[in-house]
Amino acid sequence: MSAAPKVRQRAMVGWYDPRVLMQSGYQVAIANVFGRHSDTRLIEALATQPQREFDYSSSSGDFWLDYVADTGDGWNSTYAVAAALAQPTLELPTGGARETTHSGQVLVFGGDEVYPYPSRNEYEVRTETPYRHAFAGRQRPDVFAIPGNHDWYDSLVAFSRTFCRPERGFAGGKTFQTRSYFALKLPGNWWLLAIDLQLGADLDEPQVKYFQSVAEQMDAAAQLILCVPEPRWILEDAYPRHSTYEEQSTTRFLEEKIFNRKVRVFLTGDLHFYKRHENTEGVQKITSGGGGAFLHPTHAPSTPKLRNGFEQRAVYPDEKTSRRLSWRNFLFPFINPKSGWLYAFLYAMSAWLASASLEAADVIDLRTAFGAAINAAIRDPLNGMWLITVVGGFIFFTDTHVRTWRIVGGMFHAGMHLAAAFMVGWVALLLTVQGLELHYGSSLQLLVSGLVTVILGAVAGSYILGLYLFVSIRLFGRHSNEAFSALRIQDYKQWLRLRIDPMGRLTIYAIGIDRVPRRWRQETRGGESTFAADDARATAARLIDRVEVSAGR
Ligand SMILES: [Fe+2]
Repeated sequence: MSAAPKVRQRAMVGWYDPRVLMQSGYQVAIANVFGRHSDTRLIEALATQPQREFDYSSSSGDFWLDYVADTGDGWNSTYAVAAALAQPTLELPTGGARETTHSGQVLVFGGDEVYPYPSRNEYEVRTETPYRHAFAGRQRPDVFAIPGNHDWYDSLVAFSRTFCRPERGFAGGKTFQTRSYFALKLPGNWWLLAIDLQLGADLDEPQVKYFQSVAEQMDAAAQLILCVPEPRWILEDAYPRHSTYEEQSTTRFLEEKIFNRKVRVFLTGDLHFYKRHENTEGVQKITSGGGGAFLHPTHAPSTPKLRNGFEQRAVYPDEKTSRRLSWRNFLFPFINPKSGWLYAFLYAMSAWLASASLEAADVIDLRTAFGAAINAAIRDPLNGMWLITVVGGFIFFTDTHVRTWRIVGGMFHAGMHLAAAFMVGWVALLLTVQGLELHYGSSLQLLVSGLVTVILGAVAGSYILGLYLFVSIRLFGRHSNEAFSALRIQDYKQWLRLRIDPMGRLTIYAIGIDRVPRRWRQETRGGESTFAADDARATAARLIDRVEVSAGR
């Protein structure tokens, strides 16, 4: 037998790699312009046949469905979840007993199916390939998906190709949807509705019409599970002045104007952890974004109580673990080695502009050198413009919903880097002129001092960013996204498994993997290539939460 072809196993996305930063910035900017001015959802609705609901209501026995969100980052995390989910049965200890769960007949992707930005190739390598190998030689589920913000960064082109072309399928399994939203009619009079809100925008007209026609198929006792692209119930608390995070508007519109009933269960990803909130009526709001992407902190913000009477019932990983992990920001330069290039450039440019008018005599004395640098910043327009751009960039980066704090925080952060850039430049001068006794202003001295600035700048800049992120999340509960994307944590992954029993009762299992395997062995199963974990330290999938959803009124 010939050897199986080599499969590319990607590392976790390096969000501070200058190439990723530039590419993401560019894609987000373009998506914000074109996504809002030419809505792909409308084009799809015009180009395809009307979409009906998809009917699974006649399945006999227990009906199983898997829900996974925020997939398609590193291989280890994405594959670990896919492989656990693809096992025909998974035994989970519940209390003293063991419960057998079954792989879903349907697999729903809840948003952000690929990182860092969508393209044909990234979906193929980071998402579809792991799922194809995980399901090798096994019964493949029917696949449905809604887009998250990362899927929208190319205005949904690659997402549509991957999930909305039934003739193509996904990872060897079948797909049916032709739009970026769908409705599933499930057994026990349950309905799973999945909506697409684009980049925080509202529902488009054809989508509203679609769900109106779905609502007409429901009888009075029908119960709803609503999949949404982001947990606005958490975001609206963290960013109270941010109008796009107001949860109530879309939900209330759907509940009151379209479906004429309350939603029983909300499912979402977007934040890469597991949190379940519940109100006194037993309505569930579940955030489950552990399908593969880097871990988000569960402690910042801490969310024991939300608006409208929702209280936290389960969280994974726990806040203590999350707080402990934030210390890893001190390892920032080692976890994000490529970020050094950014700071090398920033520091070298700053030192270059500041030193352009320095006289030889200034070099010796720190205070004189500092005075000369300040003078240069004021008198040299190019230098001044550079500093304004740098400070502006850091203000833009600062994460807070209060403008004053944004300016103060950004200026403080920029000030730390500029002060460090000055010190690095000064040390480089001292080292070359006094230490190496090179002639001040000679080509050799300038080159060597430039090189020293680049190296020291890369190290100092990365450390200061790590420190800034640590202080931000630790003391102010801010930059939860940046402070944890920097850590590239592939562990603490999870997904949801839903069961509807023949009585129509819904049980939701949250299944987690504390530590994903780092090494894999390629094998063959049913004539297809697959991978088995080859890492003794990896942990097995375990039950992290279980809830029985009571019947609504
Ligand atoms: Fe995400």
